[in-house]
Amino acid sequence: MLNTRSTTVAVFLLVVHTCTTSANEHAKHEADFDPLKYVNQLIGSTNDGNVFAGATLPYGMAKAVADVNGQNTGGFAFDGSNVTGFSSLHDSGTGGNPSLGNFPLFPQHCPENELNNCNYLITARATPYLNESIEASPGYFALTLENGIHAEMTAAQHSALYHFVFPAEESRNGSALNPLIMLDLTDLWASRQNASISIDETTGRMKGNGTFLPSFGAGYYVAHFCVDFAGASILDSGVWVNNRADTEPKELFVTRGFNLFYLQAGGFVRFKGPIEGNLTARVGVSFISADQACQNAEKEIPGPDYDFEGMKSKAEDAWREKLSPIAIEAGGVNETMQTNFYSGMYRTMISPQDYTGENPNWETSEPYFDSFYCIWDAFRVQHPFLTIVDPVAQSKMVRSLLSTYQHEGWLPDCRMSLCKGWTQGGSNADVVIADAYIKNLTGIDWNLAYDAVVNDAENEPLEWSYEGRGGLKSWKRYNYIPYLDFDYLGFGTNSRSISRTLEYSYNDYCISTLGKGLGKDEYAKYLSRAENWQNLFKADQKSLINGTDTGFTGFFQPKYQNGTWGYQDPIACSPLTDFCSLTSNPSETFESSVWEYLFYVPHDMPTLITLLGGPASFIARLDYFHTSGLADIGNEPVFLTIFQYHYAGRPGLSAQRAHSYVPARFSPTPGGLPGNDDSGAMGAFTVFVMLGLFPNPGQDVYFIIPPFFESVSVTSPQTNKTATIRNVNFDRGSYENIYVQSATLNGEVWTKSWVTHGFFTEGWTLELVLGPEESDWGTRAEDLPPSVGKGGIGYL
Ligand SMILES: *[C@@H]1O[C@H](CO)[C@@H](O)[C@H](O)[C@H]1NC(C)=O
Ligand SMILES: *[C@@H]1O[C@H](CO)[C@@H](O)[C@H](O)[C@H]1NC(C)=O
Ligand SMILES: *[C@@H]1O[C@H](CO)[C@@H](O)[C@H](O)[C@H]1NC(C)=O
Ligand SMILES: *[C@@H]1O[C@H](CO)[C@@H](O)[C@H](O)[C@H]1NC(C)=O
Ligand SMILES: *[C@@H]1O[C@H](CO)[C@@H](O)[C@H](O)[C@H]1NC(C)=O
Ligand SMILES: *[C@@H]1O[C@H](CO)[C@@H](O)[C@H](O)[C@H]1NC(C)=O
Ligand SMILES: *[C@@H]1O[C@H](CO)[C@@H](O)[C@H](O)[C@H]1NC(C)=O
Ligand SMILES: *[C@@H]1O[C@H](CO)[C@@H](O)[C@H](O)[C@H]1NC(C)=O
Ligand SMILES: *[C@@H]1O[C@H](CO)[C@@H](O)[C@H](O)[C@H]1NC(C)=O
Ligand SMILES: *[C@@H]1O[C@H](CO)[C@@H](O)[C@H](O)[C@H]1NC(C)=O
Ligand SMILES: *[C@@H]1O[C@H](CO)[C@@H](O)[C@H](O)[C@H]1NC(C)=O
Repeated sequence: MLNTRSTTVAVFLLVVHTCTTSANEHAKHEADFDPLKYVNQLIGSTNDGNVFAGATLPYGMAKAVADVNGQNTGGFAFDGSNVTGFSSLHDSGTGGNPSLGNFPLFPQHCPENELNNCNYLITARATPYLNESIEASPGYFALTLENGIHAEMTAAQHSALYHFVFPAEESRNGSALNPLIMLDLTDLWASRQNASISIDETTGRMKGNGTFLPSFGAGYYVAHFCVDFAGASILDSGVWVNNRADTEPKELFVTRGFNLFYLQAGGFVRFKGPIEGNLTARVGVSFISADQACQNAEKEIPGPDYDFEGMKSKAEDAWREKLSPIAIEAGGVNETMQTNFYSGMYRTMISPQDYTGENPNWETSEPYFDSFYCIWDAFRVQHPFLTIVDPVAQSKMVRSLLSTYQHEGWLPDCRMSLCKGWTQGGSNADVVIADAYIKNLTGIDWNLAYDAVVNDAENEPLEWSYEGRGGLKSWKRYNYIPYLDFDYLGFGTNSRSISRTLEYSYNDYCISTLGKGLGKDEYAKYLSRAENWQNLFKADQKSLINGTDTGFTGFFQPKYQNGTWGYQDPIACSPLTDFCSLTSNPSETFESSVWEYLFYVPHDMPTLITLLGGPASFIARLDYFHTSGLADIGNEPVFLTIFQYHYAGRPGLSAQRAHSYVPARFSPTPGGLPGNDDSGAMGAFTVFVMLGLFPNPGQDVYFIIPPFFESVSVTSPQTNKTATIRNVNFDRGSYENIYVQSATLNGEVWTKSWVTHGFFTEGWTLELVLGPEESDWGTRAEDLPPSVGKGGIGYL
């Protein structure tokens, strides 16, 4: 997929850029370099990555791809399964049930031109694709089915354009077969409750709607479609039900009925064959009405000649602009690594999706984003990444969260398809908001934001399974979430007492940050609640693996309301044992072990390190955690643990750990992700690791490790200033020199192992001199990243 020749040119220009700092040279490099060449959309398209591999704009609502019957959570999978349709709404990287994939189109010939010979049922029509035919690039996806039908697609914000090419085929008596395109009133999960379709026999326009269930949330949503065709003359049209079709009815309504039976049904249009060129299908989608779906399509893809090439190149330009803030000087590092980097960046902007103007639930002039799927995944690195490279979009996302709070009463923790999604841990929108605040994002009503986060901290909703927090009475009275809490105020899975205590503590810390900044006196209360995590630390708890003591003492444990300790094996819910989610094996820690949550105190590392016996003992724990199989690199809670060596004065070990995971566990292949991409969370992780600066979300801190390239430059869209982090003694990607020996920031000696967000907005330059052994750089108490702990930095 890489164009080697132009890549060589780009690298050459980058070298030129090193030797001069003139603005012209910089502009020249940016004009010639094309980051799109380094985007591989198929990364994470199998092995549970669930990445959306198809055509979309940045944050686009319309997402067109071939849907398969294999790992189809994101529509397509490069897993050798069969194509069941081509649909225009998707999510990316999510876990759980397949999401969206509504109203798939499917092209075919009916043998002997007999309508009832066509395959309407999903199992019957599923057709293999040719592996070597797959083409995926930003704004584009194409493949050829085994039967020779070729499909290509591109997308605008609320509409998609498909080209189908049918090989000429004949019936037994030599007359041409007539191509048929059917629309199935279904979604990937077959969650449809009811749906309608009508077909205009003159124009072939199909429009309608369907009511479906969100893939990880409550309630239902209604989606609408409008399909027009061009490139062939219409022969006939009608509806199909089960495996029968007829041209007489032009309308259909399907519902579940008394026994919840799922009827497969939809509409079709048939064209006079043979068709010489492309048969074009223009699909508009909307969450407001079918008429709005038609208007979206008419506005974004005007007819009568739908301009596929023009639309595709608009999508490419949009992506080029989004990827342009970051430029790398590879310094001899191969293209595979560059692809890993830019593809990760690309994936951070597939979702959340901009549904502004498409929200049927409330009237507002504020932006509306959807597919925060889930904030528990995205708050850690994805939103902090967007804050750097796309602060305008990130600010709109925060405004959308606040608008949701205003109209639904609560900040979301997870949200998809206009519905409330299940809460996994704390109220982590609080972290997203604090992060935006300390990084000075503009356009946000901070007093409204403060109301919203205080609501999370003070008021327990009836349904805390999808908003707010549970157990708040206990939280305030006992200062932890008790094991088997007595909570008569609301409903939620009464589990996760440890992970909720840890997350609520950090959420309250973030509220105190915002409160303090806004001059609210109660900030001190939240700062004090931020210490609640300490109440679940059981100093004498040991951890055994198969009867053998791991040698570490002191872990978080569940505690009853009466103060008596409960018990959860510290290795339970780790990759060595069983997975624990909301429904499968619910435990006191969510999707991760006591071992992994041991490190989740993002704001108070000095106290944690002291509790764990000081820096040496802390480092031994982190090392054991990462090398024993206990660390779950395929899930987001692990992210911060890779960089927490910084707090113990060993930034070199963070660099070493980062290299042990990238590219080994985050590699640019279809199966290269260790778990669900989670709307781009894994993509953002890959980029931050390789960039050499890694955030602690909600705090103005980026941990420094050497970037994986000779240098990386980031131009702030907020200020237009360019920040650069550059390696000296870079060893062209053999990665033996991964330890900082000394550093300068804007030419001055820099001994701290971290920088602030000003690095990006003010366009600073950080130069790191590398060597093959750890040095004393960043190791002194005054060089450590800041953290609130009462013990301060005295533990070193
Ligand atoms: C296509 O690729 C998939 C994924 O690598 C593989 O499982 C399948 O066997 C391949 N099919 C063919 C025909 O090579
Ligand atoms: C895909 O279709 C082929 C050919 O019809 C069939 O052999 C194979 O079992 C199907 N695979 C799946 C996953 O449906
Ligand atoms: C040939 O077969 C088609 C069905 O495939 C039928 O519609 C058509 O009338 C037949 N033509 C002749 C000349 O028999
Ligand atoms: C469709 O299903 C939804 C959700 O169950 C229901 O509220 C609505 O009334 C149904 N519509 C029709 C027309 O049956
Ligand atoms: C769906 O379409 C049918 C038929 O046009 C219409 O009666 C119904 O109101 C629509 N439902 C929604 C929720 O828009
Ligand atoms: C279909 O359209 C594409 C893009 O405009 C074009 O490259 C291709 O040649 C067309 N195919 C046919 C069969 O006309
Ligand atoms: C945000 O703005 C304030 C006030 O102008 C400034 O003191 C602070 O350094 C800025 N923070 C960042 C991260 O740019
Ligand atoms: C524990 O022992 C069992 C049985 O020998 C073995 O299958 C398992 O892998 C061991 N687990 C660990 C974490 O060592
Ligand atoms: C505290 O409650 C737990 C669970 O009900 C019980 O097992 C334990 O004995 C109680 N402890 C005391 C000291 O009463
Ligand atoms: C950044 O540069 C762009 C393009 O030159 C310009 O439109 C924009 O106003 C600049 N923004 C700032 C904050 O200087
Ligand atoms: C590219 O470089 C990385 C890191 O040095 C290495 O792991 C990988 O094998 C290389 N890939 C190729 C195709 O050379």
